[in-house]
Amino acid sequence: MKNRNTLFLALIILGFACAQQEAPKASLTSAPFGILPNGDSVTLFTLTNVNGLSMDVMTYGGIVTALRVPDRDGKLEDVVLGYDNLDGYLESSPYFGALIGRYGNRIADGRFTLDSVEYTLVQNNGKNHLHGGTVGFDKVNWTAAPVEVEGGVALGLSYVSADGEEGYPGTLTTQVIYTLSNEDEWKVSYEATTDQRTVVNLTQHTYFNLTSMKEDILNHELVLNAPSFLPVDSTLIPTGELRPVADTPFDFTSGKPIGRDIMKENTQLTYGLGFDHCWVLEKSDKKLNFAASVYEPVSGRLMEIFTEEPAIQFYSGNFLDGSITGKNSKVYNQRNGLCLETQHYPDSPNQPQFPNVVLSPGETYRTSTVMKFSTK
Ligand code: GLA
Repeated sequence: MKNRNTLFLALIILGFACAQQEAPKASLTSAPFGILPNGDSVTLFTLTNVNGLSMDVMTYGGIVTALRVPDRDGKLEDVVLGYDNLDGYLESSPYFGALIGRYGNRIADGRFTLDSVEYTLVQNNGKNHLHGGTVGFDKVNWTAAPVEVEGGVALGLSYVSADGEEGYPGTLTTQVIYTLSNEDEWKVSYEATTDQRTVVNLTQHTYFNLTSMKEDILNHELVLNAPSFLPVDSTLIPTGELRPVADTPFDFTSGKPIGRDIMKENTQLTYGLGFDHCWVLEKSDKKLNFAASVYEPVSGRLMEIFTEEPAIQFYSGNFLDGSITGKNSKVYNQRNGLCLETQHYPDSPNQPQFPNVVLSPGETYRTSTVMKFSTK
């Protein structure tokens, strides 16, 4: 009897030890995702951390096609907008999930002068240049490979943009690393070098909906750590003014549902069809400064954003108009997704009082942004 008990106890201890060892492992896998019109193949990578959070990233555009994070009951759901397959992205995409370059946001009239030379860029947004042009970094096939990192899994994406591409001077060699950490953070680290003086402003254009498309984003509660924003003209180019947010619909400093003031009578909201503006972040001595948080009360999902960039564009999905049917046959209507794009100010190449966006040979453009997921 005593022996039986001892054996029983030993089995329990062994079982417990095995269960301990079976903690989920982080992984990075890849699979073919389709062929581009020029014959290049596109690969889809899946990064999974030890907690089961996962993201799918394809080489085309460095596009994040899915990001699965838990709600407060631990249920993993996809919180980003996009398509089920490559064809959707090739047909028409308002930059879903994509890397944006060489210059995130707008440059007035598609031109700027650097060292007394005027450069003419592609005008792809009325008379302005938007998000790097007709074939920006969102529409090129990046070279991708896993990167070894401590405490998570990471994918490196690189692309060499030829001198003159979309009108920009200099060969720009860019590397972006997406890390999914075991602390449930998605980190985006950007690096670029050039062989001629040029301008650079890289960002990431994921559309988030923390309800996983059960509702629009108007009840998402947004905090922006930004005491001022950049008013724009009717073509969404900053006027040059830094306007305090106090007593305006643009005040998200203490947090509020996105829908609270979005329909207020306000010229800036009329120009943007809602929020489509760049907020100037409160400065701090931290390298990664708290920029924003989004909380969705039904699922309990919280996303916090930390960045080295001086500003953040908040776009409330105003141009989504029901013409796109995305993943899982969901129709994307106005305000079904939101973008929070960390960046330098729009049109900086033409507005010398704005923080510098010029990169010279011998320098390395280096910046990073972290999105941390949790629940409350
Ligand atoms: C950015 C711009 C918006 C819009 C979207 C894409 O965020 O600021 O005006 O062009 O991209 O539709």
